[in-house]
Amino acid sequence: MSDQNEMAEIIVLGRNVLGPIEGLLFGQFFELGGRCVNNGVFEPDSPRSRQDGVRTDVLEALQELKVTHLRYPGGCGASYFKWEELVGPVAERPRAKLYRMTGASQSTAFGIPEAYDYCQELGAEFYLVVNAHVESPDDAANLVEYLNGTTPTRYADLRRAHGREAPYNVKIFGLGNEIYGDWQNGQMTAEEYGRWFRQAAIQMKRVDPTIKLIACGAGRVNPEWDRTVLFETLGYLDMISMHNYVGRPGFRDCMAACRVLEEMLAAVNVAIDEAMDTTLGAHPRTRRELGEVPQVDKRPTIAFDEWNVWYREPHTGPAGVEEKYDYTDALTIATIFHFILRNTKTIELSNISLAVNLIGHLFTDSERCVRQTTWYTQKLMVDHHRGSVVDSAVDAPLFSAKHERFFCGIVDPEKAKDENLPTLLHYDDIPALDVLVSIDRESKTACMSVVQKLEEQPLTVALTFCSLQPTGDTIEVARLTGESPAARNTLDEPHNVGITTETAPRTNTFTFPPASLTFLTFNIE
Ligand code: AHR
Repeated sequence: MSDQNEMAEIIVLGRNVLGPIEGLLFGQFFELGGRCVNNGVFEPDSPRSRQDGVRTDVLEALQELKVTHLRYPGGCGASYFKWEELVGPVAERPRAKLYRMTGASQSTAFGIPEAYDYCQELGAEFYLVVNAHVESPDDAANLVEYLNGTTPTRYADLRRAHGREAPYNVKIFGLGNEIYGDWQNGQMTAEEYGRWFRQAAIQMKRVDPTIKLIACGAGRVNPEWDRTVLFETLGYLDMISMHNYVGRPGFRDCMAACRVLEEMLAAVNVAIDEAMDTTLGAHPRTRRELGEVPQVDKRPTIAFDEWNVWYREPHTGPAGVEEKYDYTDALTIATIFHFILRNTKTIELSNISLAVNLIGHLFTDSERCVRQTTWYTQKLMVDHHRGSVVDSAVDAPLFSAKHERFFCGIVDPEKAKDENLPTLLHYDDIPALDVLVSIDRESKTACMSVVQKLEEQPLTVALTFCSLQPTGDTIEVARLTGESPAARNTLDEPHNVGITTETAPRTNTFTFPPASLTFLTFNIE
């Protein structure tokens, strides 16, 4: 790597707008699995809970994150529940269901109406995942009728009988979750799923044509799945999902994680474009396989609706998958937010996985709730970036690193030392700086967030602005704080990682500390 005094440059390309920061980009995910909903979000016996069992400390921490939408009830958790088990009087629902993957019992008391009410308190949209394992296309359409129906029909009347006259107007539905996988209840082939999705979509959109539907995508790990599903469902789906989890022991490798996501997104976009080309008649497969060309009025977008750092904790026991996040993870998450915000032309919806305990931003026991390090990254992002993202170029030292091609379960720290595993992708060109610049014309500010990826060295960076004029003598500097890459917030020591903000003179250079996340906010003309 480079010597101590190396300089770097960030060039902001103010004219090149990459996309808007709007809509469903900062979602959260509540799963009926582990200690996420039950004994996380909802814990009637906790002294921190209201009468309705909702933990107020958890709610307040999520309200601070300005959550745009809430995905519920899974994940894999969605395939354990029929929707009718999650509505109506709690006493008439099954008391609990067994989440067979971990052996954890899941109460149904925080069901669909409760999750909807929680969304109202967050000011978030409700994104409901339909069980594609045991529910039929007809069941899925009945769910839409229950939620959104306005006429006197069987399921709208059932909602009324449950005490709710006004429709819920839920607009975002995921049809199944990771149904391509053998860990998922009711694994299907792409052909089977495509047909199920198409039938469900037709029936659901007849009940409410304004809803948006998300199909399960597999991404680069199985491009043929995406191609087949897209080909089967184009004209009916609005988004295709993409899931991935990243991270490895070792700071440097974590700083390469985002490259894997960039490659995955590129592959999904290719699959979407191929499906558009094929279906719209540019390819003979259209007529050969489909008979007639479907009505397609919009290119599908991508729902990046499960992502996080996850490589330490397996799904064992009722408290499985409870990662304890460190400062390095918070930086990794920052690079993922940068990636998402740079790609809002094709990523329409994004939510981290998950909110509480189970790979959560928040970690609780029955009395305490700690904001994990990654919570602070999302807080910095939502508080600082708004308006539109503009392009920037970076000239910085490069380093080499490696990362798994795809989420491969738990990374054994010993195995992680093996440089030659075929599951690894090797990169020798990771820039030391990862930069995102947004411009908000309304408040006349520009924000530059920078992940400085050198673990030991500071980096002094020349800042050059093209087609954008910072003004004033000062800038606001907000930083993620933490003593070391391994620093964590725990229930006993909740403040090892946090945020500081100060005002600093505006200059043409800025020195970014080693392993850091910094937000510079400039006034602009
Ligand atoms: O609990 C996290 C799980 O990981 C989600 O349920 C599933 O969708 C993914 O495999």
